Amino acid sequence: MPRRVTKAVFPIAGLGTRFLPATKSIPKEIMTLVDRPLIQYAIDEARAAGITEYIFVTSRGKSALEDYFDDAPELELAVREKGRTELLQELDRTTMKSGTIAYVRQHRPLGLGHAVWCARQLISPNEMFAVILPDDVIAAEVPCLQQMIEAHEETGGCMVATMEVSPDATSTYGVLDVDAGTGPVVAVRGLIEKPDPGTAPSNLAVIGRYILSPEVLTGLARNEASADGEIHLTDAIANEVGSGRKVYGYRFDGQRFDCGSKAGFLQATVAFGLAHDELGHEFAEYLKRIRTKDGPLIAK
Ligand code: UTP
Repeated sequence: MPRRVTKAVFPIAGLGTRFLPATKSIPKEIMTLVDRPLIQYAIDEARAAGITEYIFVTSRGKSALEDYFDDAPELELAVREKGRTELLQELDRTTMKSGTIAYVRQHRPLGLGHAVWCARQLISPNEMFAVILPDDVIAAEVPCLQQMIEAHEETGGCMVATMEVSPDATSTYGVLDVDAGTGPVVAVRGLIEKPDPGTAPSNLAVIGRYILSPEVLTGLARNEASADGEIHLTDAIANEVGSGRKVYGYRFDGQRFDCGSKAGFLQATVAFGLAHDELGHEFAEYLKRIRTKDGPLIAK
């Protein structure tokens, strides 16, 4: 049985241009989905899956993220004095114990594959590790990474989260070429990053959760950029398949929101707002009220 995965890499060094001007001074991962920043959803999912070591690949302008994980004694004191113990619990979820968290820098945004490679010194030989992209938020009864780790304990090899997308959307994703199969685990024959329209081998898109072997880092060390100038993680995983090593797609059970895009972020805000214990009812009433209203809600 493969060793349990306990280390996760969070590549968060991207520029987040789709959210400019907000991301001029705020990291995308600090942007708030209802009342928690995107990075908190990722951390919660990783913790629930048994991850105990967290590696953040950061870049210029991301220091707010480092502060986010520290103790905040003055805030805790203020909250304690107000008797808001429930907020103390919330704050507690944000802090990371010393020595469990490490930061490495990606000096230039050369692509997701390059960002993962930047963490190479912190991954031991023979150690499988997870990669989580915080802008893919996945609502699931069993957290997506936990589903994958459990499946990986049976299969070994590398594993990528996958979901079906409409055929006209495949050109915006990494897409899997797979053996036929209907279960959650599919054997991967190949991966193509952003295939030209009409050429995708399937409609199974790669989503931002991965379980990878150190061999992928060796492949990334070649620093081969593709035609768009980026070093893609999917290309390095495709090389694994080409080298005869096992790669699996995992059709997770859950709902994924692309919070790296404005439309996806808005959809997630509505879904998580409606599901929120305190706000859900009031928000649902509001949505009902505005559904029948003619014209814009606010003047443009
Ligand atoms: P995206 O493709 O969403 O790019 O990256 P981005 O820069 O974050 O956002 P846009 O497209 O400019 O709006 C997917 C994930 O890979 C990380 C990002 O931080 C995000 O978590 N990434 C991407 C890096 O860490 N480094 C890179 O060079 C590129």
